[in-house]
Amino acid sequence: MAFGTIRNVRKVFSAGELISRSREPVVALDDASFDFEQGQLVALLGPSGCGKTTLLRIVAGLISKTSGSVNIGGREVTEPLGDYGFVFQSPSLMPWRSVIDNVLFPMEILKNNNKAARARANELLGLVGLSNFAHARPHQLSGGMQQRVALCRALIHQPKLLLMDEPFGALDELTRLEMNDLLLRIRHETGASVLFVTHSISEAIYLSDKVIVFSRRPARVAKEIQIDLPYPRSQRTRFTPAFTQAERIASEALGVLAPGSEAETGAAS
Ligand SMILES: Nc1ncnc2c1ncn2[C@@H]1O[C@H](COP(=O)(O)OP(=O)(O)OP(=O)(O)O)[C@@H](O)[C@H]1O
Ligand SMILES: [Mg+2]
Repeated sequence: MAFGTIRNVRKVFSAGELISRSREPVVALDDASFDFEQGQLVALLGPSGCGKTTLLRIVAGLISKTSGSVNIGGREVTEPLGDYGFVFQSPSLMPWRSVIDNVLFPMEILKNNNKAARARANELLGLVGLSNFAHARPHQLSGGMQQRVALCRALIHQPKLLLMDEPFGALDELTRLEMNDLLLRIRHETGASVLFVTHSISEAIYLSDKVIVFSRRPARVAKEIQIDLPYPRSQRTRFTPAFTQAERIASEALGVLAPGSEAETGAAS
């Protein structure tokens, strides 16, 4: 059995859960199914509002599903998972705490903030190139640096599963490319499985072993695309025919590109 199995997950927000004033139930996810192996990175790509964040929250056990099943590491998810890290679009660091104390925050919650945790926090900060900023305050860091701190915080308790919700969406293009390479490296070193939500077709392909393309809300899986680009990947990978081919398939699945023949699109044969 795969490490993660998402089967026919459906989510209807109703009555008590509704954030909007209307009393109409909202079908956020219609039918989502896919699997992933330990250590794989799966990118979730789909139009705004199609239910990607909802799905991540269901996988983490933070909200209930209406039907279907989610199994992580051999266990059905029925309550908040103990063993995952979450990275959001904004770093959401605590401004009054130093960088290292932000990274250590989950260990405080877990009542495990010991010497070994501090050593690991320093190691992670080294891995993301922030050793010299351990005692800085978040406001002294750039957006990209803050997001690196958030990544360390998500990894401090060595989770087997990392959930990332458009983590680099607010960054400038150059920083985003750097963060992509950093994530590939970290993932290689930690062996964590990653579910990575993004709006960017090229980011999805560059990072992942598999891209799940969702339809408009209520979301269904429109296409599952295996990404067989070799590792280690580098920015040059983006300019290979295999990359362009994957971009074309994803663009067609998203509906931003009308299906066409190889000849029409001028793709290399
Ligand atoms: N508590 C709630 N009550 C009612 N509707 C909700 C609730 N939470 C989410 N929704 C709706 O469910 C749909 C899916 O939301 P979700 O945040 O999962 O989308 P998303 O794919 O992450 O979008 P984006 O790419 O813009 O972040 C949206 O239409 C949203 O308004
Ligand atoms: Mg979202």
